[in-house]
Amino acid sequence: MRIDIITVLPELLRSPFEHSILKRAADKGLLEVHLHDLRTFGKGAYKQVDDYAFGGGAGMVMMIEPLVDCIESLKSQRNYDEVIYLTPDGHTLNQKIANTLSLKQNLLLICGHYKGIDQRVRDHWVTMEISIGDYVLSGGELAAAVLVDTIGRLIPGVLNDETSALTDSFQDDLLAPPVYTRPADFNGLTVPEVLLSGHEAKIEEWRYEQSIERTRIRRPDLLKDGDD
Ligand code: ADE
Repeated sequence: MRIDIITVLPELLRSPFEHSILKRAADKGLLEVHLHDLRTFGKGAYKQVDDYAFGGGAGMVMMIEPLVDCIESLKSQRNYDEVIYLTPDGHTLNQKIANTLSLKQNLLLICGHYKGIDQRVRDHWVTMEISIGDYVLSGGELAAAVLVDTIGRLIPGVLNDETSALTDSFQDDLLAPPVYTRPADFNGLTVPEVLLSGHEAKIEEWRYEQSIERTRIRRPDLLKDGDD
């Protein structure tokens, strides 16, 4: 998979992709992330990328021209499955969206700033709008990093058995069960007996029950029928 990210702050985004699982995905040749500095496409001597909002009001708006120039230059090089704008008024990210996106080949992400991007870009170039939660970040970069992380770990071949995504929270609309490691007794704090039993079927059953119980208490909304 290849992910292109349009941003005014490429430096903010560099580090998350140079570590851990995303780094491993890149090293294995399974994920390429390319950062594009929108300023390169800015207007005039000051490489302007934002301007006052028509109609007045506080806050700047990211201009249509630099964005469209950047998007079109990328689109002329490959076909994108989705052009995604990270925005607090987008569709809230969940595991199902991440699973779907992890099967794509080329994604183009746009990080907004200030009051957002010119609506015409959203209407004519953007194919999907994603929010990472009901709160406002100062820019789309951290949201893009979250999105790439959650997609990247799902790309077939990125995770191994130890890190398998199949047992993650949300994969079956259930939260993951509690986990323990050595020692089995830490100053009298013990581990549930069943986990030490070696009885695989019983362990599976216990984990499933714990998942249900945890989900019932913490996220009863997940147990309700139907899609989000
Ligand atoms: N940009 C600012 N806030 C955001 C959010 N919650 N999700 C995605 N992009 C954003």
